[in-house]
Amino acid sequence: MADHKQKKDVSPKNTQKPTKTPLLDIEGLHVSYGPIRALKGVGLTVAKGDIVAILGANGAGKTTLLKKISGLIPADAGTIRFKGEDITKAPPERITKKGVIQSPEGRRLFGDLTVLENLMIGAFTIEKHTMKVQEIVESAKSRRIQKLIRKALETQRDVEEDDIEITLNAKEMIRQNLYKVYRIFPVLQERKDQVAATLSGGEQQMLAIGRALMRTPELLILDEPSLGLAPLIVKEIFTVIEALNKQGITVLIVEQNALQTLKIADYGYVLQLGEIVQQGPASKLIKDETLIEAYLGK
Ligand SMILES: Nc1ncnc2c1ncn2[C@@H]1O[C@H](COP(=O)(O)OP(=O)(O)OP(=O)(O)O)[C@@H](O)[C@H]1O
Ligand SMILES: [Mg+2]
Repeated sequence: MADHKQKKDVSPKNTQKPTKTPLLDIEGLHVSYGPIRALKGVGLTVAKGDIVAILGANGAGKTTLLKKISGLIPADAGTIRFKGEDITKAPPERITKKGVIQSPEGRRLFGDLTVLENLMIGAFTIEKHTMKVQEIVESAKSRRIQKLIRKALETQRDVEEDDIEITLNAKEMIRQNLYKVYRIFPVLQERKDQVAATLSGGEQQMLAIGRALMRTPELLILDEPSLGLAPLIVKEIFTVIEALNKQGITVLIVEQNALQTLKIADYGYVLQLGEIVQQGPASKLIKDETLIEAYLGK
């Protein structure tokens, strides 16, 4: 947490100092959609081991920021570094490979596939622990999934098929990840053969996070995980996020649910119309009633 205070003068050249390197470091980020300037010089840092919250009203640019971090949209200007390495222009598959894994807004599940199939699709796009394409495709049971995996690999890969190394441990890794996900969300194991579309909203959110966990994140990025969920489920999701963080996963979370998010976060940023207008330790922001009321609601 102290890193946030120290980081201001950290230039790319001295980030490898023995002091804690920020895991993610963004400077002067500008992103626009045609004439719409969605991000106007955003800078932020996520220290390793922290939960960092980005708060802000509708249209503030939160999803845009996350999409840019994941390499899904281009930037007009600015720099994004992950572990000191410039990833500003890296394609999404390379960013994922480095362990920056996003659970997107709106969950984006395959509604007509089962819970297990959705989780496996998460695993199959792991590139840190890749198998040969053929092996992956053959190990999938149904034709439908084989097709989806092929498609996922085609669109997310930046290497030739032959370049993909067989990692003997890949299957074991997937098995272990699945076991971990089931331990965190037992309901997913109970419902592993149920199609995703028929899950409750809360279960779908758990599946979306579970799918991200199948990719062994070092930085887990969550876009409004509490959206549309009942208070009790929200509480459960936040407890899980906290537990994952304690297991060593750094978390960057976007939320409109300011109070609850700040309760689990170490540090927070407030984004308003594409600019960071306030930042500080979560324990301080949470006491700022004006801020909570003005930008965030309850
Ligand atoms: N694909 C797009 N094309 C044009 N404008 C876009 C596009 N995506 C987002 N925008 C605009 O960029 C701005 C920021 O949008 P963004 O989705 O990042 O906001 P947000 O903070 O995630 O909002 P919400 O809380 O509603 O999810 C908005 O004004 C939005 O209309
Ligand atoms: Mg959004």
